[in-house]
Amino acid sequence: MDYKREISQSKSLQDLENTKIKCLGRNGVVNDLLAKIRDVPDSEKKHYGQKINRMKEEIKQLLEAKRLELLSKKSSGFFDETLPGKTYPKGTLHPITYTIEEITRIFQDLGFIRVSYPEVEWEYFAFEALNMPKGHPARDDFETFFIDAKPHSKFGKMVLTPHTSSGQNREMRRVKTPPIRMINIAKCYRPNWDTTHVPMFYQFEGLCIDRDINITHLKGTIDYFVKKFFGKDREMRLRPAHFQFTEPSFEVDVSCGVCGGTGVNCRVCKSGWLELAGAGLVHPNVLREGGIDPNKYSGWAFGFGPERCMMMREEMKLDDIRILYSGDIRFLEQF
Ligand code: FA5
Repeated sequence: MDYKREISQSKSLQDLENTKIKCLGRNGVVNDLLAKIRDVPDSEKKHYGQKINRMKEEIKQLLEAKRLELLSKKSSGFFDETLPGKTYPKGTLHPITYTIEEITRIFQDLGFIRVSYPEVEWEYFAFEALNMPKGHPARDDFETFFIDAKPHSKFGKMVLTPHTSSGQNREMRRVKTPPIRMINIAKCYRPNWDTTHVPMFYQFEGLCIDRDINITHLKGTIDYFVKKFFGKDREMRLRPAHFQFTEPSFEVDVSCGVCGGTGVNCRVCKSGWLELAGAGLVHPNVLREGGIDPNKYSGWAFGFGPERCMMMREEMKLDDIRILYSGDIRFLEQF
C-alpha cells in the first residue's frame, strides 16, 4: 500500500478516517509489518522494528497534516448565513415538578406556606417527635433507610426521611406560636418497588394548628384540594386508620382515575379507590413535643403522595408509577 499517496488523495475527513484505519488499525499495514518480525533474522530484528516505528510516526504526521488541510478547506467553503439555524431538542421540567408547582399554588391560595425540610434527617424528627419512642412497633410502618454515620448525641441515628411528617416538629419549633399553616414538600425514601410504590418519592405534608381546629377543617381542606386537582366530579373518602402521631387517624382515598372507579380488571386500585394520603388530628403528645400547649391549640395534618395524585388524574391513565422515574424519554417528552 502506498500510504503517502492514499493519505494525500483523501478528499474528506471520512476518507481520511478510512485511510487511518487501513494504516494504523488492528489489521492495518503497520500491524501487518510488525507481525512479520518473527520471520526476520535475529540480527536484523532491532533495525526492522525501528524502521516500522519511524514509518508509524511518519503516517501519524501525514494524517494530522491532511486533517488540518481538510478542516481549513471546509471552513473556507460557502456559508449561507440566511439559512435558519438547527434547533436543539428542548428539555422540559419533570412532570412531578409541574405537579408539585400546581399543588403548591392550590395550598398557597388557602394561605399555606411552602417549606422543605431535610431529606436526610435525624431519627428523632422522624419518630420520637411523632410519638413513636425507641422500639415502638409503629416505626415498622415506615420502612426506613438508616445511614451508617455517627449518631447525633440528642437526635439519634441519621435516616433518609421515610415521610414528610418529620417536618411537623421542625415547623412547630420554627413558628413557635400558632397559627401554623404549613405545606412541606420533600423527597422521602422507603425500600418499595411495585405499580404504586417507588423507593424515592415525594410527599406533601399539610399541617394546620390554631385554636378550635377540628375534623371538619381537615375534611373541608382535603375536599377542596381533591376538587381543584382532579375536577369537581371526583370523589374522596376518609377511612379509619392508625397513625401514632394523629388521633383520630384516617386514610384518604380517591376514586380511581384509571378504571373510572369501577375496579374492574384494574391493575392499579383493584377496588375502585386508591389511597393517596394519611391524615388525622395532631396527637397532643406531638403538639407538646413541638412546644405547643394542647389545651390551647389543636390541629390537623395530612401526608399525600404527589406521584399517586398525578397517576390518578383521569387524563393520565398511568397504570404504573415506576414509569415516572424510568428516564424513558418517550414518556417524559409528552409533558
Ligand atoms: C405516611 O407517610 C404518614 N406520614 C402520613 C400522615 C401524615 C398521616 C400526617 C397522618 C398525618 P403513608 O405511609 O400511608 O403515611 O404514606 C402516605 C402517602 O405517601 C401514601 O398514601 C402514598 O400516596 C405515598 N407513598 C407512601 N409510600 C410510597 C412509595 N413507596 N411510593 C410512592 N408513594 C408512596
